[in-house]
Parts: sequence; C-alpha cells; structure tokens
Amino acid sequence: MTEKMEHPLSTQEKEIDSDDISSNPTDTPSLGDIVNARVNRRGALKGMLATAVVGAVGTTQLAKTSQAASKSLNGRIDPETGSTLTFKELEHKIDENDGVAEGYNADVLIRWGDKVVPDAPEFDPQRLTVRGQAKQFGYNNDFLGYMPLPLGSANSEHGLLCVNHEYTNAHLMWRGVNSSMDLNKERVNIEMLAHGHSVIEVRKAFGKWQVVEDSKYARRLTLFSKMKIAGPAAGYNRLKTSEDPTGRTAMGTVNNCAGGVTPWGTVLIAEENFHGYFGGDVDKAAVSDAEKASWKRLGVGKPRYAWYKYYDRFDVAKEPMEPNRFGWMVELDPYNPDAVPVKRTALGRFKHEGAQTTVNEDGHVVVYSGDDQRFDYLYRFVTKGKYNPNDREANMNLLDEGTLSVAKFNADGSLDWLPLVYGEGPLTSTNKFHNQADVVIDARIAADLLGATPMDRPEDVEVNPVTGKVYVALTNNTKRKPEQVDAANPRANNKYGSVVEIIPNNGDHTAAQSTWNIFLQAGNPMIPGHQAKYHPGVSQNGWLAAPDNVSFDRFGRLWISTDQGSAQRKNNIPDGMYGTDTEGFGRALTRFFYRCPADAEMCGPVFTPDSKTLFVAVQHPSETKGATFDNPSTRWPDFDANTPPRPSVVAITKKDGGEIGS
Ligand code: FEO
Ligand code: CA
Ligand code: CA
Ligand code: CA
Repeated sequence: MTEKMEHPLSTQEKEIDSDDISSNPTDTPSLGDIVNARVNRRGALKGMLATAVVGAVGTTQLAKTSQAASKSLNGRIDPETGSTLTFKELEHKIDENDGVAEGYNADVLIRWGDKVVPDAPEFDPQRLTVRGQAKQFGYNNDFLGYMPLPLGSANSEHGLLCVNHEYTNAHLMWRGVNSSMDLNKERVNIEMLAHGHSVIEVRKAFGKWQVVEDSKYARRLTLFSKMKIAGPAAGYNRLKTSEDPTGRTAMGTVNNCAGGVTPWGTVLIAEENFHGYFGGDVDKAAVSDAEKASWKRLGVGKPRYAWYKYYDRFDVAKEPMEPNRFGWMVELDPYNPDAVPVKRTALGRFKHEGAQTTVNEDGHVVVYSGDDQRFDYLYRFVTKGKYNPNDREANMNLLDEGTLSVAKFNADGSLDWLPLVYGEGPLTSTNKFHNQADVVIDARIAADLLGATPMDRPEDVEVNPVTGKVYVALTNNTKRKPEQVDAANPRANNKYGSVVEIIPNNGDHTAAQSTWNIFLQAGNPMIPGHQAKYHPGVSQNGWLAAPDNVSFDRFGRLWISTDQGSAQRKNNIPDGMYGTDTEGFGRALTRFFYRCPADAEMCGPVFTPDSKTLFVAVQHPSETKGATFDNPSTRWPDFDANTPPRPSVVAITKKDGGEIGS
C-alpha cells in the first residue's frame, strides 16, 4: 500500500532540543587545526581589541542613523541606564507563569489544539484525534511571520500570522508516554499533523488581538501536504522516490524552526532537524558510499521518532532518497490559500534555522541562514535576478537562481563569503560533486571542503532595518575545546553563546567580503569565569544565555529571545525576551522584558510595522527532566488540572497603546 493510500484523513479532508550533537567531522581537530587555533588565539586577542575599536568607531560613524532613530523616539533615553529602552526591567526568576515588564499586557492569542481550519473540533486534551489535529493549531510554535492585510499594506492591526510548528513532546501530549519512539500508528499520525505550519488571520480590536474565525486564509501544512521542489536539485535522481519518480515534489515539511519573510509577501519556513525522523537499517540501504557519507554528515539514521515503523518513506533502507526531500527552505504564499509551498533548493540543504531576507541597494535579494549545529556554518544566498517592487509575480521564483556562499570569519575582523558553485575549487567529481544539485544537497560537505568557519551553533540572523548591519545569534557550544577556539568563537566550553555583528562592506550585502565583530558575549557579567561581554550597565536581570531568535523593532533596536534548554535550571534564569540598542550609548545593554513560563523556550519574536505589538511564541513549556502529562512543571497557559501545558503564541502590547520598549 502506498503512503498516499495510508493517509489518515479522507481525501476530501486531506489538504486541508533540538538535536545539536555535532555531525561535523571537523570538530575533531587535526594537527593543522591545532596550529591554526594557536594562531587564531593570538588573533582572537587582537580581534577583541579590534572589536572595541570597531564599536567605538561604529558609534561615531553611525551617529547619523542613531540620531535618526532617536529622533523618531523623540530623544527618549532612560536617565538611569542611558538606553533608549525605557521600560522597567522584569525580574529574572523561573516561574510557572509567564511575565512581562510593568505597564504591558501579554495575552495568549492561540494555543496548541485551538481551531485553525473552520470546522475543527474542540480540543480535548484527554483524547487527541487525527481529525482534530489536522485542523487545529500544531505543537511547539516557533517562527512567527506577521503579514499585513491587505497585501502590500503596513496595517498593524489586521494581518496573517504564519506560524511554524517545530516538533512534538509526546510525554507531555499523552498520559503514560515516555518517548515518541513508543507511539502507535494513530499517535504517530497525530504527531505528523502537529508538525508543520499554521496560517491564521488576526485582528486587533479595542487593544486586544483575536484570531479571526472561519478565515479564508486559515490553513495547516503538515507531513501530508504536497509541496513542489524547485531550483538546481529539482528532478535530480537523488530526489526521486517511489511516491514521486519525477523528483519534483515532496510530501510535507518537518521540524520547521525559525524562518523569515520576503519583500514580496511570502514566508520562508526553515526545515531544521529533519534527520531525527528517519530510521531503518543504514547498512542495508542500497545506496552509494557518497549517499552514506551525506547521511553521516547530517546524522540521518538515528531516529528520535517512530515514524519509520509505520511509513516506509521514513525508513532509509526502504526509501533511501526520502531524506533528500527535507532540510530545505520552503517558500509559502500565505495570501493565496491554494498556493502550493515550494522547497527552494538553491538555498542549500542543511539544518536551516531561519532565513533573513534583505534587498540589496542594486536590487539583488540576499538571504542569510544559519545551520544550527555545533561546528556548523553561516550561509548567504544572493539571487541572480533583481527584486521588482512593482510586479509581485515576477519575484515569485527569484529564489531559484543565484549564488549560495558560506562564511569564513578571519581573525583580522574580515569575513570571506565562499561561493558553493559546482566545478569551482574542490567542488568537482573528484569529491563526488557531479553538478550543482549535489552541491546544494550536500551543502555542508561542500562548505567543509571550502574551509568555512565552524561556529557555535548559528541560529537566527537579522538585518538591522536602520543601519543595515547583520546580527547572528550563536546559541552555545559546550563541545568546543580550548584548541578549537578562534576569533569568532573565542570561548572553549561556550555555555552561554554570543551575538556576532557583520558589517557589509559599503553597505553591499552581495560583496565577497564583509567585516565582523562580536556584539556581545552572553553569560553573567558578574561572574568573571563566564567571560561575558556587554555594556557595563547590564543589570542582574538583564544578562542572558543562549541567544536564539532575534528581531528588530522599527527603531533598529535588537530583541533577543533565548533557548537555554535544560541549562535553564542550572543558570537559574528563565528563557525570554531581551531588548537592546545596537548603536549609541545603550549598545549591548540588554534589558529583560518578557519571561517564559517554566522550562519553555522563547521563539518567533516579530513586531507589527508600528512596533506597538510584539508577538512571541512560547515553545515547550514544562520540557524538563521528570515532567509528564500528569505531572508537568507548569500547566501554563490554562492552569487547569485536566489540561497539560500548551505551546502558545502571545501578543504583547503596551497598556497605554504605546510602542514596545517605551
Ligand atoms: Fe530549532 Fe535551532 O532551534
Ligand atoms: Ca531556534
Ligand atoms: Ca528573526
Ligand atoms: Ca532552539
């Protein structure tokens, strides 16, 4: 029986911590690496000095933009801190409830199980059903994209909210379940429907956001939604499966982590830890050694879900090309409810965290994307064509042609963007690259050969809308050894992460080189052993650990969300949102604004264009050792004895109707 026939829904209804164990072999240093590391360590010191200088020079150079920003802020500066963020800082404490700075409301907008598609049944946490989950809001909300309505407007009170559902916590979804690996087929189907993406229509009325019921835009994407594959890998042998012998379609999207929006009004949905959904006997798979090397580099074949027991496509011995249909960036047009999502293979295949799009001055579109794993890389894609602001349709396939590059951070503060182009340098048949399809499918291996810089888990990337500088969140890397430190990743056993600032040369995001410096090194600045680096005014509530998703408000202030995972309890601070200036006196002065409920991570921050609403995604509340369906560490947001904790989206607004941060 084919999987199509095994679909858990009738045909009418059909369309309707993370694994960060490194699979980069270069994390075991060679002698050469060790020598380089020594050199780099000296360079790192120089880099640190350079950082201070760049910071100071940057402040002067950017005085104009900074002034422009503070002008629109009416020159408001907190007299105590010198930050343009004048809210009263929230207390750092782990609590079963969420919390927000004084003077703000944090209202739950939508929870796992709430209705998305019009005829969705009521959520019953004691009896999850396939029929329900297919139409209800999925689990573990991550990326949030706010898309104003109508298309092309800057409406800050009515829009679409596009939401990724990254993964599921079976032990918190069902009574008596310890692991996803133990689930029966019905529950596997529910898991597959709780992943993916939701589009909802939202509206603000009388200061409160609500989901618009029975919206024509409402839809769910799951593991059963048909998608197109486009770009250099489309139609290639390595994408052909028994379900699709053409290699031009994929069934579903998975582990949708962060993402991004494009200037033409589509969303980019990242596929991150796709490898953990594939099982089966790797040794028995009839594939080439190159394919097996590809699996190894990505960690395919070590399942964390039982899907392969019930669906051949997740068993690599039975359907060995199926993993190649995942690990892409998916583009969705949320304004067209019938649009088929497209996997854009030109952007490369790796564990995509997010996709930050910016239009370069010359019209080329640039997409930055992190590969979130220890010792993996930061990528950049530059379109061949140019953005046409007057013709939406002309932009719809812009992401199919262009140049993918990977970052090499040099100790002198420069950064080389190394192009991943078939036939150039080592990317030839000698190294088992036979065309550009191989290069994009095995972007990681190509990047290894080019000598990219192994980073401390590149998560989200964001471009400052005021200054054009680029910010990269590096979550942490406790596996980095002293001999592996380099200028951009200067701490061994990096428990706290950092934010790196990249300055495009002359503002050109397509240039072969950029410069960079470390914007902040997270950790507690009061404990010297953390080697934290911020503005000296950071308070005991304002320090952070494990920066993950980042976002800018319209004034060019950076907002950082955190994901400490199980370290939340060790660090004894909750995950949440921090805001900081990037220029002027308050540069790198992080201030604590919103707190997640216990053992949740903070995801998806996004502002409405007027900066008066901040939407955030609270992911996996109660994901901690020993917590179960019946005994969670919090029952947020319902606090009902019969309801487990629920991942939810929260809308934050100021009680007086003002801008976030004021
Ligand atoms: Fe899904 Fe890298 O966070
Ligand atoms: Ca993340
Ligand atoms: Ca972001
Ligand atoms: Ca994360």
